[in-house]
Amino acid sequence: MKPKIVVTRQMTQAVMERIASDFDAILPPPGGMNPDQVLLALEESGAPGLLFNGGTRFDATYVARLPETLKVAASCSVGFDHVDLASIRDKGFIVTNTPEVLDNSVADFAFLLLLASARRLHEYDLTIREGWSRYFGVSEFLGNDVAGKTLAIVGMGRIGQALARRAQAFDMKVIYHNRRKLLAAAEHGATYCASLQELLPQADFLSLHAPATPETTNLLNAETIARLAKGAIVINTARGSLINDDALIAALQSGKVRGAGLDVFNGEPKIDPRYASLKNVILAPHMASATEETRTAMGMLCLDNIAAVLSGKAPLTQI
Ligand code: DGY
Repeated sequence: MKPKIVVTRQMTQAVMERIASDFDAILPPPGGMNPDQVLLALEESGAPGLLFNGGTRFDATYVARLPETLKVAASCSVGFDHVDLASIRDKGFIVTNTPEVLDNSVADFAFLLLLASARRLHEYDLTIREGWSRYFGVSEFLGNDVAGKTLAIVGMGRIGQALARRAQAFDMKVIYHNRRKLLAAAEHGATYCASLQELLPQADFLSLHAPATPETTNLLNAETIARLAKGAIVINTARGSLINDDALIAALQSGKVRGAGLDVFNGEPKIDPRYASLKNVILAPHMASATEETRTAMGMLCLDNIAAVLSGKAPLTQI
């Protein structure tokens, strides 16, 4: 008999094909299942497996309502700030995530935001769309080179390291801050700063890669922004909670922060509307891992985890 699972959202075609061949699945409606629909599907089917993502928040109240039949929930994400680990431990089922398979994709996107911000690509694009009327003079509307500039990475996990490698290929100097200094092999030539205070003033570009935790909430705030050199560019592909929006928006308006590339926001998908009125910000709707290849790899890893647990084996990537 095929293992029974609930799938909360449409996955890539390759993943849907494997679901159809290897699982007895309760599939989502076109817009995905809302949290109540997920509960209902789990209760009615008694499925021991669940494939979900950040759209279903596993907070303590929600976890308490999950049926005892649930044995493994695979989150199609590397981040797990939508999951209350203590309640899951008490409830006694396994939750997995998707580390490693999205490192390159997210690092590519962070570097894309960095380069596009430095070179003002979104402003150029807008200029054409709004009606390009004249050639710009040689000293007008200029961006900046990234070669020779310093990229400061906060959170030097696998994605931070992948970004460091990309930056070095573009002749940037890379510095990083992390809870602890990494072994030399994992530093990829980057220089460790023991504190944010030491890191921030050196940054031409600041890229955030720390998880969303109580410690990292509002990590970028009025006080830390004040420590940045004037004209720094901020990139965030981690989580919106790392940034205090009032502080960043004020800094973008004043020019203290020259530009920002943001893929993640507080209160997604209802973001602070002031961002949309700022020309020096590039905005993306939480898409850093959104490639066919990476989303397929993430979905396959979820299915590998579910299949392992439901056949009595250890999960591959338990949170
Ligand atoms: C992740 O994998 O955590 C991405 O941010 C998508 O949620």
